[in-house]
Amino acid sequence: MMETRKKIALITGANRGLGLEIARQLGKKGIKVLIGARNAIAGQAAAGDLKAEGIDALTVLLDITDKNSINSTVQFVTEKFGYLDILVNNAARLPKATDEGAPSMVNQELLLEFLETNFLAQVRVTQSFLPLIRQSTAGRIVNMSSTIGSVTISSEHLHQNGPKPPRIPYAASKAALNMFTVSLAKELRQEGIKVNSADPGLTQTDSGGPNAPYTVEQGAWPAVWLACIDNDGPTGCFFTHVDEHVVNNPW
Ligand SMILES: NC(=O)c1ccc[n+]([C@@H]2O[C@H](COP(=O)([O-])OP(=O)(O)OC[C@H]3O[C@@H](n4cnc5c(N)ncnc54)[C@H](OP(=O)(O)O)[C@@H]3O)[C@@H](O)[C@H]2O)c1
Repeated sequence: MMETRKKIALITGANRGLGLEIARQLGKKGIKVLIGARNAIAGQAAAGDLKAEGIDALTVLLDITDKNSINSTVQFVTEKFGYLDILVNNAARLPKATDEGAPSMVNQELLLEFLETNFLAQVRVTQSFLPLIRQSTAGRIVNMSSTIGSVTISSEHLHQNGPKPPRIPYAASKAALNMFTVSLAKELRQEGIKVNSADPGLTQTDSGGPNAPYTVEQGAWPAVWLACIDNDGPTGCFFTHVDEHVVNNPW
């Protein structure tokens, strides 16, 4: 039997880091949060923590690179709820200091692996959940991108003699994701489904490290804001934050 209608959000990779914090902030707004995790124990621990804070959280086993895993989660959400209001494509492969990425010498296998997880899998997850999002009255899709995926910012760094070029596998995967955001937003605009990219800024997660300038609470703001925008809100845009203000990010 279908549960009574309540706003539902699925956040991929929500067992830790920004995904968990996005789930927490959405949950505190009264939204039911589905904690996507590829490891059942880690997912249940995260959902348990949120439940202890009074949040309506449920774990869904979801490895975004595994078609069968995506299909079973779609089937589960279809049978249990029949709709999905918010999809936050947060899970990603983050670069390690040892990842070689200089464009002239880039390891092509590594490039393919990053594109596989951070682009192809995001497209596949989105396509698979779209029928459920279409059952929402206000579907929202948020793609977690990065400053490093901004061609404009990278090019400003080049001309201003700024930092060395970003590691290309991660950078290219996020730039490709941004293009998906814009293209899908255009396609879905008439249906009222809003698709945007969020840039958390360098954030204190396992990947961002303890010296990153932003806390997870701050890093989650753009994604949470975009997940909750009303029908007059933006689509096909890229947002980050300055202090607590969500602002446009250059592509
Ligand atoms: N932290 C930053 O400074 C920063 C800056 C810009 C953008 N971002 C973006 O923000 C998002 C979250 O970053 P984060 O710092 O929170 O990352 P993180 O701490 O490394 O966490 C990554 C999350 O993604 C999950 N994940 C990875 N591959 C997966 C897969 N195939 N299927 C399902 N889940 C998978 C991980 O699960 P496991 O626990 O199982 O590994 C983990 O829950 C990413 O999209 C990242 O690119 C982060």
